[in-house]
Amino acid sequence: MKKIFPLLLLLFYAGCDDTTTNIDDEIIPDSNVSYSKHIQPVFDAKCVNCHGAGTTEAGLDLTTWAGTTADPSIVSRGEPDNSKLVWTTEYPSRAGFPQMPPTDSPYLPFTTNQLKGLKTWIAEGAINN
Ligand code: HEC
Repeated sequence: MKKIFPLLLLLFYAGCDDTTTNIDDEIIPDSNVSYSKHIQPVFDAKCVNCHGAGTTEAGLDLTTWAGTTADPSIVSRGEPDNSKLVWTTEYPSRAGFPQMPPTDSPYLPFTTNQLKGLKTWIAEGAINN
């Protein structure tokens, strides 16, 4: 224990260092996706500057679960393939729908894991969990 203690201390401090946390490094699980834990943080990083309290492009407010799920054409619960939220964030976006975030904006597109996580959350009922 005497020898391992400094190592444990080091690991503890390394674990506390969240200054390098990047949203694209946060892996969303394959099931039991949580709106508050996994989905909202991605919107916060990539969407809310245009779909937030001040600016709500296309009338869409992505700062809350209620705003995100208000329009069933944006989020069709249980049906990711019928949800504009998926059509716009997959790359390339579905024909006739704008690419989100817009390619000329400073925001990075969803990672493969984030898109899969979004689809799973909607497939699991788009619940406020
Ligand atoms: C730089 C500003 C900007 C950012 C960032 C942005 N959007 Fe948008 N969004 C817009 C604008 C502008 C429109 C309306 C454009 C249009 O209809 O052609 C729009 C429209 C939409 C629509 C409605 C499409 C439709 O046809 O009804 C959805 C859904 C959407 N955005 C989702 C998102 C998501 C999800 C993100 C984050 C990944 C995001 N947006 C990030 C500016 C932005």
